[in-house]
Amino acid sequence: MNTRLLGKDFITTEDWSKEDLDTALDLAFRLKSDFAMGIPHDHILRAKTLYMLFFGESTRTRNSFETGMTQLGGHAIYLMPQVTQIGHGENAKDTGMVLSRYGHAIGIRECRTNIGQKYLYEMAHHASIPIVNMQDDFDHPCQAMADLMTIMEKFGRDLHGRKFVISWTHAPKYVRPLSVPQSLVMLMPRFGMDVTLAYPPGYELMPRALEAAKRNAEAAGTKFEILYDMNAAFQDADILYPKSWGPITVTEEVKEVEEMAARNTGWCATAARVKLARKHAVYMHCMPVDRGHEVEDAVIDGPQSVIYDQAENRLHVQKALLALMMGGRL
Ligand code: CP
Repeated sequence: MNTRLLGKDFITTEDWSKEDLDTALDLAFRLKSDFAMGIPHDHILRAKTLYMLFFGESTRTRNSFETGMTQLGGHAIYLMPQVTQIGHGENAKDTGMVLSRYGHAIGIRECRTNIGQKYLYEMAHHASIPIVNMQDDFDHPCQAMADLMTIMEKFGRDLHGRKFVISWTHAPKYVRPLSVPQSLVMLMPRFGMDVTLAYPPGYELMPRALEAAKRNAEAAGTKFEILYDMNAAFQDADILYPKSWGPITVTEEVKEVEEMAARNTGWCATAARVKLARKHAVYMHCMPVDRGHEVEDAVIDGPQSVIYDQAENRLHVQKALLALMMGGRL
């Protein structure tokens, strides 16, 4: 256990040791249990403020962070570029320096390709309060931690030998960032899972994420493989995580992206495919989900689906991270 996490940024799980991450998970389980039993913990971050700077839309992230701060006794302020001077060009340094004089942490969602994570690290360089990643173009570490917590609830904390499958799916509604699959392939090997990544050609992840995934798997003695066949990937899986992401090469070229996606409409989590996995396998998705394209209703609304547990665990794991990073009274 490492309780000396006061002031530490959470931009990627790669910057945290496994011991640090286990500490956050331990506290998340405790806070979830206290919440369920009605044990108040609004002393933990009393009178502390989290700024939540969103460059894009959100349902889960905004509401779980804001609700979490309320439950911990603090306050969260929702910011967007157009309601701050960021919209007039105020830079990360000036924004971070000023907010550091008022509050206790800054959360940022900035998913623009080749801009997002750079902005977070720039803000972290100048701010004297911790930065928490609410999703960028490279990583979505809070989502990955909530997913890991959910898997632990279903399979226990020893996950060695479990087969975790992250597969691309077709989703015509909008092009999603690569940050979720990347955060998953980097994190899950560190906790003992054998990771299978599947996608049609053209949907490769960023080399930096793949290098980290391979390095982490090697260090943990787990397997990491890439397949181009959804059926083969699903075979004997314990955890199925089929979701859409955009291509890295042409993310700004909307027409080309749409044409690429249309060539791969067969990449859907169907009930027949889910049967290829082990009987006890769980179906996961970070949401929002493109129903009928990414997944059949029979799967997402079926008994193997744990999507609402994942969404709930965003609340608990983020409360734990904030309590540790913001000097909570635990
Ligand atoms: N999974 C997730 O981050 O959801 P939102 O985009 O709604 O925050």
